[in-house]
This record gives sequence, C-alpha cells and structure tokens, in this order.
Amino acid sequence: MELEGSVALVTGGAKGLGLTIAHYLQERGAKVIVADLDTEALAALQENMEGCVLDVTRLDDAKTVIKELIERHGCIDVLVNNAGVIYSEAMVNIMNPVGMMHDYHRFRQSITANLDSVFIMTSAVVEQMVMRRTKGVIINISSISACGNEGQSAYSAAKAGVNAMTVTWSKELGRLGIRCNAVAPGFIDSVSTHNALSESIIKHIQSNTPLRRLGKATEVAKAVVSLIENDFMNGVVLKVDGGLTI
Ligand SMILES: NC(=O)c1ccc[n+]([C@@H]2O[C@H](COP(=O)([O-])OP(=O)(O)OC[C@H]3O[C@@H](n4cnc5c(N)ncnc54)[C@H](O)[C@@H]3O)[C@@H](O)[C@H]2O)c1
Repeated sequence: MELEGSVALVTGGAKGLGLTIAHYLQERGAKVIVADLDTEALAALQENMEGCVLDVTRLDDAKTVIKELIERHGCIDVLVNNAGVIYSEAMVNIMNPVGMMHDYHRFRQSITANLDSVFIMTSAVVEQMVMRRTKGVIINISSISACGNEGQSAYSAAKAGVNAMTVTWSKELGRLGIRCNAVAPGFIDSVSTHNALSESIIKHIQSNTPLRRLGKATEVAKAVVSLIENDFMNGVVLKVDGGLTI
C-alpha cells in the first residue's frame, strides 16, 4: 500500500515507539491520527498531527471513535496496534511469603492492556473496512517476549496471543483485501525499557545481542513501513531484535 495519501491510525502513538512510528508514517505522506489515553502527551503533539483520546481496552468507545474518524477522513487504511504496557512479575516470589504467587488481577490487567486492546481495535476498524468494502493493513506491535520471557508471564502470554491473532487474521481477512502483519521488537532504547530494566540487565542484554546494542525506535518504525508498503507480505511476525533470539 502506498502511504502517500493514506489514512493511518496509530494507537498509543502519543509517546514512545508509537510516536516515532506516527512521525515515520506522516513523513511518508500519510494522514496520521494518534489514539491514546495520555491527554498531556496528546496535547504536546505537533500541530499537524491529529490526536484523539481513547482507551483502547473499551470496545464501545473504540467503535464510536472509529466511526467519527471515518466520517471525518473518509476511511482508515492502516491501523497500527501499538498501545501496550510492558509488565513484569515473577510467577513465584519466594521473598514474599504472604503473596508468593503472581497476582491474578494484575495478570488480567496486563492481558487486557496488551491482548484485548488489539482485538478490540482491530474488530472496530475491520468492521468498518468490510462494511465500506475498503482494503487495508493491520500492523500489530508484538514483542520477542512472545517466545516466553522469564518474569513476564502475563506480558509474554499477551504478546504470544497477538502473534497468533496476526496469523489468524492474515488468513481470514486476506481474501477481503485486508493484510495483517506484526513487528516483534527486541529490547529498544526507550523510556519504557529503562523504566522496566536495571542498567546491569540492560548491559547483559547488550552483550548477548550479536549487534551488541539496544535497538532504536526508528528501526521499529522502518519495519512497520516496510510491512505496510509491501503488498505481498501477510501473516508475517517480523523480529527487530539485533539477532538476540537467533
Ligand atoms: N520499548 C521496547 O523496548 C519494546 C519492546 C518490545 C515491544 N514493545 C511494545 O511496543 C509498544 C509501545 O511500547 P513503548 O515502549 O513505546 O511504551 P510507552 O509506555 O512508552 O508508550 C505506550 C503508549 O501507549 C499508551 N497506552 C497504554 N495503554 C493504553 C490504552 N489502554 N489506551 C490507549 N493508549 C494506551 C500510553 O499512554 C503510551 O502513550 C507496546 O505494545 C510494547 O509492548 C516495546
């Protein structure tokens, strides 16, 4: 799909990787709309980038916002499901005998934020694409955690679910002219990575990565662009991890 002249919706695009992806799509000529629940970050967006307040875990709100956006812009050609929350908690914490096991409520919260959100947004956007008989591209931002990351039961399970939905949708929706792919970043040099991991763990990751460094947000954005632009890529989960998982 040509990005020039297309309409792209990026969830969680008010900051972090999503903001870099939004800028990349805009530089290539797309009209970009960013959906996020962080109102302060939305208010700080460049003037030429449209922001809308949305909690992507709420189906009814998502349906309403998508309808309004399509009435305003005519269509949504590209959906980038980027919104997510990195979450780490060990399955067993023997240092906390009172609450030793992974909290179930926090497990559910992480699944909702990282898996339900992708289902909800895709469902709301694809419904409109099918009703209006328009083609489109869905890009899900997954993670190499989908392989199973120590200390990340919920987040890993959610991202594995995102990968499975990516492949499922590529089979179901391909015949309707809607492609679906995912990008699975490794450890990216971002605020969220530095908040989630100690400096010693980051050094350990770097020394285990063949390229000996963290990834850049722009490298994730370039992968997103290539999956949108290449019309024969469908059902791909593209790792952007410097070779960490090979
Ligand atoms: N940073 C990394 O190294 C890395 C690695 C692998 C995968 N990822 C994935 O990339 C995506 C972006 O991560 P990031 O590091 O930029 O995170 P981030 O926390 O910097 O940004 C996430 C954005 O999503 C928004 N968001 C969160 N929940 C939302 C909701 N329910 N509704 C609407 N907006 C919501 C936040 O407000 C924020 O603007 C996530 O899906 C994450 O799992 C990140």
